[in-house]
Amino acid sequence: LRSPTVITRGDELRRQVLAWRAEGESVGLVPTMGALHAGHMSLVARSVKECRRTVVTIFVNPTQFGPDEDFARYPRPLDRDLELVAAAKADLVFVPAADEIYRAGHVTFVEVEGISQRWEGAIRPGHFRGVATIVLKLFNLVPADQAYFGQKDYQQTVVIRRMVADLNLPIEIRVLPTVREPDGLALSSRNAYLSADERTRALALSRSLRRAAELAAAGQRDAKLIAAEMRRILESAPGLILDYATLVDPDNLEEVSRVAGPVVALAAARIGRTRLIDNEIINIGFADTSAGEMPNV
Ligand code: PAF
Repeated sequence: LRSPTVITRGDELRRQVLAWRAEGESVGLVPTMGALHAGHMSLVARSVKECRRTVVTIFVNPTQFGPDEDFARYPRPLDRDLELVAAAKADLVFVPAADEIYRAGHVTFVEVEGISQRWEGAIRPGHFRGVATIVLKLFNLVPADQAYFGQKDYQQTVVIRRMVADLNLPIEIRVLPTVREPDGLALSSRNAYLSADERTRALALSRSLRRAAELAAAGQRDAKLIAAEMRRILESAPGLILDYATLVDPDNLEEVSRVAGPVVALAAARIGRTRLIDNEIINIGFADTSAGEMPNV
């Protein structure tokens, strides 16, 4: 296997990407925190298919972790990640040292107001400020045509789209569907923390989302009732602590009371020391939208 070029310095990375662009080559960016799984690899595969050049970034971004979160123990299997990226035929991997990204004296952050404070943002204060900041920095270091993100972090994709629109960033955001294990568990680097028993309990997340979609498909339009059923499923899973389960507007993430158009079911829970999130886009039976596809996803 030909290894992709690994770059550790931001200025070198940007020069290379600008050189490609000057040659008229399209560039796709896949930002990741490593511990790559089939979900990430679906993003890389799509970028490789759609763009002449693909850059994967691997950086466990400290500013999106709270003080009591899992920054220190977040998995960092770099050699394996590089093999996966090589097999997927990406052109370049950026693996910066922390001091390459946040230099001494760094005090500038991006705040996407409103949507960043809800749901994940309410439980993880400052999380989306860290995400928006690193993503904007990566967009500047990798002036790509398109950037690829997974739907698994639905709120993150909404925050990033909002930032791109508000700050007139010249990049197209592509969001690809969540990749799941055959039993429904959404792939996540954090699944590595789960014991076999915890993993079984974690299935309640995807089960609750499937139930929400089923109820909506069967004609239930009372969103509060659907959310209550999701909570019942999650709360009856032993050892699972529910953070939230709700139906929200796809664009502003405000809770809805009726299913009168596309909605997103969001669920988040803790199992032991692990926090997991999952979501399902529910878009059935509404005129003017094609089934399963969000207007802006
Ligand atoms: O989704 C992730 O892995 C991260 O939040 C991202 C977008 C790479 C920013 O650190």
